[in-house]
Amino acid sequence: MFASSTQDVPEVLPVPRHIAIIMDGNGRWAKKRFLPRVAGHKRGLDAVRNTVRACSDLGVGYLTLFAFSTENWRRPQEEVSFLMGLFMTALEREVERLHRNDIRLRVIGSRERFSAEIVERIERAEAKTAENSGLLLTIAADYGGRWDVMQAANRLLAQGATSLDEASLAANLSMAYAPEPDLFIRTGGEQRISNFLLWQLAYSELFFTDLLWPDFNAEALQQALTSFQSRERRFGRTSEQLPETQRRG
Ligand code: IPE
Ligand code: IPE
Ligand code: MG
Repeated sequence: MFASSTQDVPEVLPVPRHIAIIMDGNGRWAKKRFLPRVAGHKRGLDAVRNTVRACSDLGVGYLTLFAFSTENWRRPQEEVSFLMGLFMTALEREVERLHRNDIRLRVIGSRERFSAEIVERIERAEAKTAENSGLLLTIAADYGGRWDVMQAANRLLAQGATSLDEASLAANLSMAYAPEPDLFIRTGGEQRISNFLLWQLAYSELFFTDLLWPDFNAEALQQALTSFQSRERRFGRTSEQLPETQRRG
């Protein structure tokens, strides 16, 4: 039904090259079932697995998932600890499956506040999957859009730059290896960016759904894609300036 890559039939059914998702609503999913919030995080991992598989099958090139924000450290200590534990387990248990499916894993964000074990597992997982050529899965953990812009600026200053421009700043962002997201999805009903990829979302198509993250599945992803495919991306131009194949409506 869908083109397997953007190269196949780009005019008719464009598959986003890069999808970025704020996976929100785990706590509310659990609360609705009178379960502790952490039960929602656990189920959220199943939704991650399904979404990765669906994107890989669709031929999406890059999938970026917001797993833990720089602000999430403000949560109760028990919840933060549980999330760190879940991250550790996932890094250990999921990487083999990713590798088998030719998926490359990258983790973006500050690593300063993670334990040495987590950092080591991240590095091992990235190294193991580095040569894979399928979907590039990025997990944003202890990530903040403002942190990212600042670390890029500071890196340039440390190299002796006296003035910054867009191209050099963009080249120093933590996701400089990926094109900017074509499609941004947020589950959980909130309509905000919550300090996710601030710079890179400048021209992304935004899609918000009330579905809670543990309920997100291939069908929900399809809905987002259908919406994406109906949009006319003008990047400041007029509709008439676009090639016929990129006009909508
Ligand atoms: C998203 O779900 C997961 C993380 C932020 C780690 P939440 O935990 O924010 O769930 P809600 O928004 O409280 O329902
Ligand atoms: C955004 O969700 C961060 C992640 C999904 C990792 P939050 O639940 O932390 O966002 P706010 O606090 O409602 O804006
Ligand atoms: Mg939330």
